[in-house]
Amino acid sequence: MNYNKKTITDVDVAGRKVLLRCDFNVPQDKKTGAITDDKRIRAALPTIQYLLDKGAAVIACSHLGKPNATFADFVKKQTEKGKDPATLTEDEWKKSLAKLTLAPVAVRLGELLGRPVIFAADTIGPDAQAKAAALKPGELLLLENTRFDKGETKNKPEFAEALAALAGPEGLFVSDAFGTVHRAHASTAGVAAHLPAVSGLLIQKELAVMGTALESPKRPFVAILGGAKVSDKIGVINNLLEKADTIIIGGGMAYTFLKAKGYEVGKSLLEADKVDYAKEMLAKAAERGVRLLLPVDTAVLDRFENSYEYQVVPADAIPADCMGLDIGPETVKLFSEAIHGAGTVVWNGPMGVFEFSAFAEGTKAVARALAESGAVTIVGGGDSAAAVEQLGFADKMTHISTGGGASLEFLEGKELPGVACLLDK
Ligand code: 3PG
Repeated sequence: MNYNKKTITDVDVAGRKVLLRCDFNVPQDKKTGAITDDKRIRAALPTIQYLLDKGAAVIACSHLGKPNATFADFVKKQTEKGKDPATLTEDEWKKSLAKLTLAPVAVRLGELLGRPVIFAADTIGPDAQAKAAALKPGELLLLENTRFDKGETKNKPEFAEALAALAGPEGLFVSDAFGTVHRAHASTAGVAAHLPAVSGLLIQKELAVMGTALESPKRPFVAILGGAKVSDKIGVINNLLEKADTIIIGGGMAYTFLKAKGYEVGKSLLEADKVDYAKEMLAKAAERGVRLLLPVDTAVLDRFENSYEYQVVPADAIPADCMGLDIGPETVKLFSEAIHGAGTVVWNGPMGVFEFSAFAEGTKAVARALAESGAVTIVGGGDSAAAVEQLGFADKMTHISTGGGASLEFLEGKELPGVACLLDK
């Protein structure tokens, strides 16, 4: 896939209306709706600031959460969750939508930018149309949640066209929502059929850092993969086996690999239908001369609980009635040594049940090893990014991706629709 895409610095933006796709899908407090982490809003600021300073009129848009765009969808989802469809009302559906309004994002964005943000109460409706038409150079408008319209996730051409029309005949589409580039939706890809499309500064940076890591890394290139499931990482392991010098596997997915080596894993997380795949990967690594490191010891407990009553056992001696919940100290040493000798490290997925303090040590140790290494360090979004931030190592990393699913698909080498639709340089 070609990552060499035109960006906002390659085109004239002055006096133009720019439809800017951001990823403002921010975590919110369930009760109050308050934004609990504004990292993604902050990550969009350089592009917004650049466009406004250069005299563009910016129409920003984003999705937030997974709203049910129609009452019928709402009923279907709630029924799947076990609710009686006869008891569901349109009022409840509207309340569920109200929780996913982008209005609080407009407020936060205004605070961070120190300038007014105009908010449209709809996405392509009369309010958005009137406010977009009246928008002047240097002004910023934020549209309501794109997923309130069913045309968004279905990538309906009519919705994409109406969204693009807000920017007018001289308009430009700027994609800066890296977290959403793996989605072929109307506002991430469909609009590019109607407007010239370039990347913003965030996507440009994400592509440059991760693209370099994959295509011409400073070696040795060490990839660390964790998280619960092998099935989530199959494509990533396949692709990285072609690129990396060392692959480190920790987290829940490691037990399927240990099983593939012939070890008993007790009650640990095991994907029985992926054991053969894990065997193939072990063989492929050996064949290609890639070092594949697995845990050599593990912290085990007889129940899934945040308890310090665990014991540490060798990886080939997991008791039948126990489950592995974190990597052990010998494994930390082994993994840390590999990280310290690396030129580039890419990390995606925790090493244990990180949300339990008793089993967060392995993940913490890996985060620390990355922070202390002189390597180019890239942390994929999601849990590993959260871990690095919580532990206070964020400023020690070369790059923390704003994409969870998107960064994984990037590491898989998959085509990303939100990038593929942009103009080539
Ligand atoms: C994310 O949070 O990973 C992106 O915003 C994409 O969200 P989605 O998984 O709801 O498409």
